[in-house]
Amino acid sequence: VPTGADLLAEIDRLRKERNAVILAHYYQTADIQDIADFVGDSLELSRKAAATDADVIAFCGVKFMADTAKILSPDKIVILPDMDAGCSLEDSCPPEKFRAFREAHPDHIALTYINCSTEVKALSDVIVTSSSAETILAQIPPEQKIIFGPDRHLGGYLSRKFNREMLLWPGVCIVHEAFSETELLKLKEQYPNAPIAAHPECPPTIIDHADYVGSTSGILKFAQEFEGDTLIVATEPHIIHQMEKALPEKNFIGAPGADGNCSCNICPYMALNTMEKLYVALRDLEPRIEIEEGIRLKAKRSLDRMLEMAG
Ligand code: 13P
Ligand code: SF4
Repeated sequence: VPTGADLLAEIDRLRKERNAVILAHYYQTADIQDIADFVGDSLELSRKAAATDADVIAFCGVKFMADTAKILSPDKIVILPDMDAGCSLEDSCPPEKFRAFREAHPDHIALTYINCSTEVKALSDVIVTSSSAETILAQIPPEQKIIFGPDRHLGGYLSRKFNREMLLWPGVCIVHEAFSETELLKLKEQYPNAPIAAHPECPPTIIDHADYVGSTSGILKFAQEFEGDTLIVATEPHIIHQMEKALPEKNFIGAPGADGNCSCNICPYMALNTMEKLYVALRDLEPRIEIEEGIRLKAKRSLDRMLEMAG
């Protein structure tokens, strides 16, 4: 595997040779974000994957995101640099348990966060991302009963905001769960004028202090617009790379975990993808996402509904 400038050049050469598009999430390391053709949130990446005319999608994100790309673009080769790049929310929701939960509540529809397996998508009615959840929930008649999974913090946030009861699956994101309210308040004392932007996967102890709550793309938009010189960012800290690029004169601080710094809020799954593994994946067209057609079609129904309803 080449190193340094050669590695960048080789990834670029392979991307052209393979007619590949490199899609990256904001939680990937700066080098991956910088070499990607497109960097986005879960909804934007799904839309890009559905619309691309490339032959290969090199997905730099976690597995449920690459699975989503394959569900929406089955004729493309979809590669993920590290197949072990999972997600604690997906792990919290085994399909057979989710099926039993649904069967126990037959009068409820399943509104499901995209951070789940293909099997769970196939068992769901409508998928949401953090950037589309509010728009989609607003279109569901108030009398309709809802199961929301797998993220109980996003579900709880929506439930409070819409004043609408939902049955919540008990999953959490281990990254957003690790923010410390005590340490956040200490930081806020140091920077009393700095607003806090938080992802809705954060627990209510963090959300309650936030000036803005939204998806990664929403937080980035807020970073472009806030007045002042310092912003506290309560989501995975690799997103700060985009903020520093766009607004080098401002100060962006990752919200702290219990140890007082933001390093424990690095997503360990996202971190499995590296430039070296991206190179190998483009070279070998492996590891490759494969999904059985029957399950793909069922999962596509709930994803298509999301794409329609998200507007
Ligand atoms: P976004 O859709 O806001 O990018 O969130 C994805 C994610 O996994 C957050 O942890
Ligand atoms: Fe999953 Fe959390 Fe990592 Fe997002 S940050 S991919 S929700 S574990």
